[in-house]
Amino acid sequence: MRVFVAFACFLATSLAEKPRPCTSPPLLSGQMMVSTQNEKLWASIRYLYDALGQKIRLQEMGYYQNHSFTYDGLLLFREAVMYEINNHDHTCKKRPLKVDFHPMAIPNNATLLGQAVLGSSSGPGQGLLVNTWMGIIPKTGGRYLTTVTEFGCIPISMSYQTQPFGWMVTNFFNNVIGIPDPGQLNPPAFCQDASHEEPVDFFSLFQ
Ligand SMILES: *[C@@H]1O[C@H](CO)[C@@H](O)[C@H](O)[C@H]1NC(C)=O
Ligand SMILES: *[C@@H]1O[C@H](CO)[C@@H](O)[C@H](O)[C@H]1NC(C)=O
Repeated sequence: MRVFVAFACFLATSLAEKPRPCTSPPLLSGQMMVSTQNEKLWASIRYLYDALGQKIRLQEMGYYQNHSFTYDGLLLFREAVMYEINNHDHTCKKRPLKVDFHPMAIPNNATLLGQAVLGSSSGPGQGLLVNTWMGIIPKTGGRYLTTVTEFGCIPISMSYQTQPFGWMVTNFFNNVIGIPDPGQLNPPAFCQDASHEEPVDFFSLFQ
């Protein structure tokens, strides 16, 4: 009996442990939906994320100011270049990438808003335990809200206050730890003689 009580106490204290800021797995792939408060931008994105090689691939389709677009970008932070890839026409643009790589992580000074169950805690497999954090974006002074799973620090949603769009909300789903096709994180052969273009600041939004 005493052993059981001790075990119950141990369980209670470990369950009551406060969530801590965490870092997401260094290799992730999956999908995300991005939408903005001012309704100007909406996009469905397939992503590959490699924090070890500091590479990100984003294959997007969406609407910007009522016009549909597709976009395929490979961001190589170590080389400080990004490629805009057009697989259909086998064309490629190369631009300088003037942002630092930030691994997907909850900053140490983030404030815990709370822990919650997405779905339901009434039956097995119906719910997902998540933590939501809040903080200030250093560059802009806007706020961010980030929700990750308690187990594994897998991203669920990220919301940023941005100047041109208002709240920019990204929801993640179908995440897989690892990268099924690492070749997609290298520029295709037809990017060898890509034309050099001006830098863009668009991606600083995603940081
Ligand atoms: C987008 O389309 C809607 C409905 O057709 C229209 O009301 C709105 O003004 C359009 N917005 C822009 C930015 O063109
Ligand atoms: C956290 O640290 C960053 C700089 O690293 C700072 O800009 C921000 O205001 C700090 N506070 C919060 C609540 O995010």
